[in-house]
Amino acid sequence: MSVLDDLKNLESEALERISNSGSLDAFNEVRVQFLGKKGSITAVLKTLGKLPVDERKLIGASANAVRTNIEENIKSAQNKLSTCKTASDFDPTLPGTAQPIGTIHILNQVMNDICRTFYGMGFEIAKGPDVETDYYNFEALNFPPDHPARDMQDTLFVENDRVLRTHTTPVQARFLETHKPPIKIITPGKTFRNEAISTRAHVAFHQVDGFLVDEGVSIADLKGAIVAFCKAFFGEDVKLNFRPSFFPFTEPSAEVDVSCILCKGKGCQLCKYTGWLEILGCGMIDPNVLDNAGIDSEKYTGYAFGLGVERIAMLKYKINDIRLFFNNDIRFLRQFI
Ligand code: DAH
Repeated sequence: MSVLDDLKNLESEALERISNSGSLDAFNEVRVQFLGKKGSITAVLKTLGKLPVDERKLIGASANAVRTNIEENIKSAQNKLSTCKTASDFDPTLPGTAQPIGTIHILNQVMNDICRTFYGMGFEIAKGPDVETDYYNFEALNFPPDHPARDMQDTLFVENDRVLRTHTTPVQARFLETHKPPIKIITPGKTFRNEAISTRAHVAFHQVDGFLVDEGVSIADLKGAIVAFCKAFFGEDVKLNFRPSFFPFTEPSAEVDVSCILCKGKGCQLCKYTGWLEILGCGMIDPNVLDNAGIDSEKYTGYAFGLGVERIAMLKYKINDIRLFFNNDIRFLRQFI
C-alpha cells in the first residue's frame, strides 16, 4: 500500500471517530492519536525527509490537507457540542419557548360546528365542484332559462355554460342523480356571487345545504329537523319563526328566523328592533327537481334547507362586518382561538 493510501485510511478512520464521539475529551483523544507529536499523521510527515523531492512534495501536500480536514472536523464537532446543554444544565422549571402554531379559521370552526350538529342528526356530508355548469346551478333546480328567478342570484360566469356556483344547492341535484332514496345529506362549501362588497355582502362566502328524500316525508319532518338544529346550535330556549317565501327548487318554501340572540326578542340594533334574525331558507323539494334527477316524485318526497355560514358566524359572535372574515387581520382572528 502506498503512503497516499495510508493517509486516506487514516483520514477516514479519524473522521469516523469524530462523528462517533460525544465529548470534548473524546475529541482531544482523536487529536492526540492522529495529529499529536506521536500521532499517526505526524508519523507519516516524519518519513517525508527520506523520500525523493517530487514524491515528498506530493505526499506532503496530501498529508497537510488531511491534517487540516481532521482539525476542522474536530473544531466544528466541538462547537456543536458546546452549544448543547448537558443534562445537568437543563432546568425543567424554566418556561418553554412558545412555537407559533396555526389555528382553524373562525368560518371553518362555525362550518364544522354546523356540520357536526347535522351529523349528530344522521346527515352525511357530500361535496360538489366550485365551478358548476348552468344545468346544475340553475336548470336542474327548476330555474328555466331566462326565468326571472335567476336574477335572485347575481352570477359570476366563467365561460359558456360554466358559472361559479351561486349556492351549494347544485350538490343536491348532482347527488340525487346518482343515488337512490333514502337520502339524508348536507353539503358544506364555497359559493360566489357578483355582489358589491359591503358590511353584509361579499363575492365569496360559504353555505351549508341539507336535504332528505324518502317515502312519506312531510313538512312536519322539515320543521322537526330545523327546530332540532336550531335548539342544538343556538340553545334550547331559542324561538323560531317560519315565514312563507319563494325558491324555484322548493314548494312550498319558507325562510326561518330565530329570536335575536342578543336581546332575546325584545328588539335591538342587531335585529333592527324586530326581535328576529333570519338564518335560513327551506322548503319541500319541488317535484320537478326530483323528476329531473330521475327520482319518482309520485313515490318520494323530500325537504331541503340552506344556510349561510357567514351569517350564522356573525350572529353567533356578534360580528358586524362580513369583510373582517377575509381581511386576515391576525388581531381579529386571534379572538377565536
Ligand atoms: N340556495 C338558496 C340561496 O342560496 C338557499 C336555499 C333555500 C337552499 C331553500 C335550499 C332551500 O336548499 O331549500 O339563497
